Amino acid sequence: MSPAVSDSKLVMALPKGRILKEVMPLMHAAGIEPEPDFSDENSRKLRFATNHPDLELIRVRSFDVATFVAFGAAQLGVAGNDVLMEFDYPEIYAPLDLDIGHCRLSVAEPVELSAGDDPKRWSHVRVATKYPHVTQKYFADRGVQAECIKLNGAMELAPTLGLCRRIVDLVSTGATLKANGLVEVEVIAKVTSRLVVNRAALKTRPDQVGGWLEKFRKAVDAR
Ligand code: PRP
Repeated sequence: MSPAVSDSKLVMALPKGRILKEVMPLMHAAGIEPEPDFSDENSRKLRFATNHPDLELIRVRSFDVATFVAFGAAQLGVAGNDVLMEFDYPEIYAPLDLDIGHCRLSVAEPVELSAGDDPKRWSHVRVATKYPHVTQKYFADRGVQAECIKLNGAMELAPTLGLCRRIVDLVSTGATLKANGLVEVEVIAKVTSRLVVNRAALKTRPDQVGGWLEKFRKAVDAR
């Protein structure tokens, strides 16, 4: 897959939303200052210049970071291991844990159901999730057949509205589960955000791509 920008310029894909706030101090520590529009929520721009003429930023949905990097449209990115596990793109190399975006991917169900429920006895589960591949694999590995209903957000609504009894979703503070009468019953994976690179870009442009990796590594170590 050929890169969408000229060979001299690198594109770094960052996820919109709460991770973006956590990643900015590391960006500054790595010496990256985005143009002012980057922090202007009213700006309709999608590509942003930085203080480095050879580095541009894009702001996309968290799942799309992985896609841009896997296809070489962005050479660098920040993605959670939840997203990386779901896609499992061989083209992505995730060498650096940024120690931000801490949360977990968990199975949850209504409080009333959990009172008399034993997850060890499940043989078939029906779950609403944004992570059908991770969910299926997790349950298959323990001999449970999982039927996944793909949703893109607001998973917590599914049990209340009778779509299914259980969900697999990210849990951070647990406030969203609590507000919807749900309780976490199993943790599938601990999640943090990683600095990811396109493997081919790292091979063909080791100084540029590897140079940024090193700067982020130092920024993480210095925290
Ligand atoms: C995530 C996740 C949960 C919520 C958990 O959604 O899908 O709904 O955060 O956080 P909590 O445990 O601190 O309440 P997010 O707000 O990122 O939006 P999304 O539904 O668009 O993914």
